[in-house]
Amino acid sequence: MTTKHALFKGKDYISTEEWADSEIETLLEVAGDLKHKFKNRIPHRHLPDKTIFLMFFDKSTRTRNSFEAGITQLGGHAHFLTADVMQVSHGESPKDTGIILSSYGHAIAIRHDLVPGEGNTYIREVAKWASAPVINMQCDVDHPCQTLADLMTIREKLGKNLRGRKLAVSWAYAPSYAKPLSVPQGLIMLMPRFGMDVVLANPPEYGLMPETLAAARKNAAAARVKFEVVDNMDDAFRDADIVIPKSWGCLDTMGTNPQESLRIAKQYRHWICDDAKMKLTKSDSIYMHPLPADRGNEVTDEIIDSPRSVVFDEAENRLHTAKAIMALTMADEPVPYEVEE
Ligand code: CP
Repeated sequence: MTTKHALFKGKDYISTEEWADSEIETLLEVAGDLKHKFKNRIPHRHLPDKTIFLMFFDKSTRTRNSFEAGITQLGGHAHFLTADVMQVSHGESPKDTGIILSSYGHAIAIRHDLVPGEGNTYIREVAKWASAPVINMQCDVDHPCQTLADLMTIREKLGKNLRGRKLAVSWAYAPSYAKPLSVPQGLIMLMPRFGMDVVLANPPEYGLMPETLAAARKNAAAARVKFEVVDNMDDAFRDADIVIPKSWGCLDTMGTNPQESLRIAKQYRHWICDDAKMKLTKSDSIYMHPLPADRGNEVTDEIIDSPRSVVFDEAENRLHTAKAIMALTMADEPVPYEVEE
């Protein structure tokens, strides 16, 4: 084992696009070290007496609890804030909110993901004025906390060399709510950088933001891997090593009329990850989903509860990666961590 040190003090984590490959590698190394320490009850209080403000414009189970539990384990404290009980609901500006919260603590994390065109802009405005790092807990464009945990999970299951591996990111049917576009967008932007060939599948009404598709194409070309978009699940799943089928809403209407996304989706009920779809993939392929999943619609119980499903490892890695992001952006001194050489 080798001891290394790292620090990205004050660096915002708004999109993986703004973090170099080497910086993402460091986040993953620190997350791995923190996972080992958590499981072996080795203290890792890198953030004593530090405060993070968690500001939610939308619901959450994994994100809220991974950040709250994570900051406690690091020796700090989280304030859970919902926009409906803050003065933002009376129109207080992101500038004033950013200045004030960062004068009380050491980081601001924000989820603002349901309205295309709003969340990323809001988070960046807070970050422009805050004197502390700002972390994106999911916006309309990216969910960098989720995709970092996904990359960690894929590497744990398939190894670090992912060149030649095929990842299928597919739309799937869900009647529960019009889910944000940021998970598939974040996946197609990040995963080509780490060697995977990525195929995106969606019905015509469920296209992603053009700028994220352009970033995916650019990143794939730079990494000399494939990125393609298809209009059916079968082509995406065929010979895939990893599948991430999940629902999302229609870009044009989900901010103003989310019911329209659900109405249109009804004609695509057959976009479900079931045994027939998984049979198209490699025999040792893995099934992933950021959760919450619409069981019986996005995926059958048979698949999500099968040995090929890694969804609970993926959800657990949200804790370790959130802690790595907080430790490296909030600590005063370089964070020590162990890596296997
Ligand atoms: N995957 C994810 O972000 O889960 P929550 O919406 O529960 O935070």
